[in-house]
Amino acid sequence: MATELGIALLGAGTVGATVARELEVHANRLAARSGGPLVLRRVAEREPGRARELAARGVTIDADAAAAVAAADVDIVVELLGGLEPAGTLLDTALQRGLGVVTANKAVIATAGHRLVAAVRPASGGLAFEAAVGAAIPVLAVLRDSLRGDEVRRITAVINGTTNHILGRLEAGDDFDRAVADAQERGYAEANPTSDLDGHDAAQKLCILAWFAMGAEVRPEQVERRGIRDIDPSDVAAAARLGSVIRLVARAERSEAGLALSVQPTLVPRSGHSLSDLEGADNAIVVESDLAGRVVLRGRGAGAEAAASAVLSDIVAVARARRAGGEVPQAPAAPALVLDGEAAETAAWLRVRVDGSPDASDLVAEALTRGGVVVEQISPGGSDDELAVLTSPATRAALDRSLTALEGLGLPVQVVQRLDRLGATT
Ligand code: HSE
Repeated sequence: MATELGIALLGAGTVGATVARELEVHANRLAARSGGPLVLRRVAEREPGRARELAARGVTIDADAAAAVAAADVDIVVELLGGLEPAGTLLDTALQRGLGVVTANKAVIATAGHRLVAAVRPASGGLAFEAAVGAAIPVLAVLRDSLRGDEVRRITAVINGTTNHILGRLEAGDDFDRAVADAQERGYAEANPTSDLDGHDAAQKLCILAWFAMGAEVRPEQVERRGIRDIDPSDVAAAARLGSVIRLVARAERSEAGLALSVQPTLVPRSGHSLSDLEGADNAIVVESDLAGRVVLRGRGAGAEAAASAVLSDIVAVARARRAGGEVPQAPAAPALVLDGEAAETAAWLRVRVDGSPDASDLVAEALTRGGVVVEQISPGGSDDELAVLTSPATRAALDRSLTALEGLGLPVQVVQRLDRLGATT
């Protein structure tokens, strides 16, 4: 009989409580797959109700997570606290102690993941973090293990379940605050939903994707980032009139000039597009590479069970590696040249309020063209005083220049919304 491996769980919130339950309910299945018993020995949790429930099941409760990491009966630490600190220090300590580590913490992995990987001790089982991106979607494993011979050129993805759920609720007529509350109740949102709403969560995940897909060592602050706070029901309705939806889209694109990284609310064609028909907290990642062409991964991107699925898979992988005297594999990475956001190209959608004069549309097109932006389509925007302008790909800097030229016309023209836009093919 193989010896038991002791687990310390840091955080028994939405995901942690589900992991704790599954370790108990499916103990036999998990033992068979990991080569021997896995025993939840300690849980670091301060909330008294959660702690009492776990203590009743025979688990030692540590109010202090550092005590759980330092305990002699622990082989694998599962960190589900989220946020940079104290999680980062706890992960460091666990690795220094030669423990196996599983985490869903995208903030720490996006900012310190390369350093943590370098700190993995031989025969510890290693460091695994599949749950950090796309929850139930096994995207990191696919990028690391299945496209080894390819060069990935572009990733286009919806990787934040909360904002996808909120945008869907706006389409259904909900107001913004109610939609946020609903995402929180369903366990999709981070403890502080600012991270979701302002695009930080998606930017962190994009950095991890760029690492695994492109071998690029990049940081969240290099991502041209905008969240969804200024998207209102009128934008959603205007998008619908164009046969489109608005999604928070994360993009990484490699060109001769460098790597362009962005998280932006984006106009996406409603039909025939991999990123438009995502329900609720679903995520989708479109990977384009030289040999495989397009690979699309879709599934549940947030929620207790979806994240627990990835965490449990990682626990099994780390346990197997530890029992075999090794470590789980990692993806290589090297520093990459990241383009300034203004230098990156994107097609755009503009909602332009005009004075209703018959030549307004010609004047707007002329001003944009003068700034170096090609206008693909100008159509009435659903009311007498609004135009919907679709531009061809141009740098954000060129679009800025064009909009300045537009303001300089001295017309009563106002750009009320400006979003990135995806074509029909992704
Ligand atoms: N808050 C995250 C999201 C949870 O909404 O996608 C999963 O990482």
